[in-house]
Amino acid sequence: MTKILMVCLGNICRSPLAEGILRSKVEGKSVLVDSAGTGNYHVGDPPDRRSIEIAKKYGLDISNLRGRQFTATDFDTFDLIYIMDESNYTNVLRLARTEEDKAKVRFILDEVYPGQKFNVPDPYHSEMHAFESLFRMLDEACNLIASKL
Ligand code: 4NP
Repeated sequence: MTKILMVCLGNICRSPLAEGILRSKVEGKSVLVDSAGTGNYHVGDPPDRRSIEIAKKYGLDISNLRGRQFTATDFDTFDLIYIMDESNYTNVLRLARTEEDKAKVRFILDEVYPGQKFNVPDPYHSEMHAFESLFRMLDEACNLIASKL
């Protein structure tokens, strides 16, 4: 089984949406998808209502997901750790214990733009249109991730 973790800061906007999108694309395959945040502000919280809304618009229900914080033991559980931006990258790498841990961490948009280390912008302080473009960005990246599984 391939185990994939999506990581952002709060685990309420970007990573739960990425989790829901990828999960929908790997149905029937031996793949586990989860998400976490590097921060602890939203532990136990459902996704942001705007992420729930944009997911619903595209036929996905992510309302049952709950926020949790990334921990070093996630390196043991997961094969691939997709981070949304450079700040997540720094925070996750800080917890890496070995070179093997570090090698699991990828910028999710590198799937679409290899080696570019582009950020998925934090939509928390933005309007709904930011969630529309967030969905499209994550959908494109998840199509490419799923095609390799
Ligand atoms: P996320 O967005 O990292 O995509 O879940 C954020 C959600 C909450 C906060 C920051 C970013 N916050 O500061 O509470």
